[in-house]
Amino acid sequence: MKGIVENQAYQRSMQFLLIGWLMFMVTPGPLLAAGNCPQYRSTPTAPEEFLDLKNPLAPEEKNLKAGELIYQLQGQPIACKTCHGENGDGRAESGYDFNPLPRNFTCAETMKPLPDGQLFWIIRNGSPHTRMYAFPSLTDKQVWQLIHYLRQFSK
Ligand code: HEC
Repeated sequence: MKGIVENQAYQRSMQFLLIGWLMFMVTPGPLLAAGNCPQYRSTPTAPEEFLDLKNPLAPEEKNLKAGELIYQLQGQPIACKTCHGENGDGRAESGYDFNPLPRNFTCAETMKPLPDGQLFWIIRNGSPHTRMYAFPSLTDKQVWQLIHYLRQFSK
């Protein structure tokens, strides 16, 4: 008797595993992507004096182009797109095990409330204990150019 009961319990748990696996396999990509916006965010807040900063540059072509070049190609030690993705959605296939995930710049809900100075401070100093490096070699001007470029992803 005991053997049969155990066997049934075993079968039931195998059924649950199978159903779980099937649900995982057929969940469509867009549904998974939906979890990316609004994006969970636990990034430290910049000091007051940074939060008040406004981007001093105009969002004109030459600044956007300069930002694009750093983002897509020239950022050191590695270009921003390696993690944030070519189209800014935070889903780069860079092979890193991200926790937390890179910011999704295409998500207006998450990006709009963040002041320019917050973005400036994180780009300069990095976000501790995450994969978001500090980029101390960028000039102030380059960081502001980058910020204009990041903002256009959610426009
Ligand atoms: C090695 C991967 C990696 C690279 C390269 C990288 N980032 Fe990030 N970035 C992250 C991760 C991960 C986070 C999320 C950090 C967190 O949750 O605190 C992040 C967060 C951010 C944020 C969000 C700040 C906030 O307050 O929410 C900004 C802005 C940002 N990155 C800009 C950049 C720029 C600009 C570059 C290129 C100069 C860059 N990142 C390069 C991984 C990366």
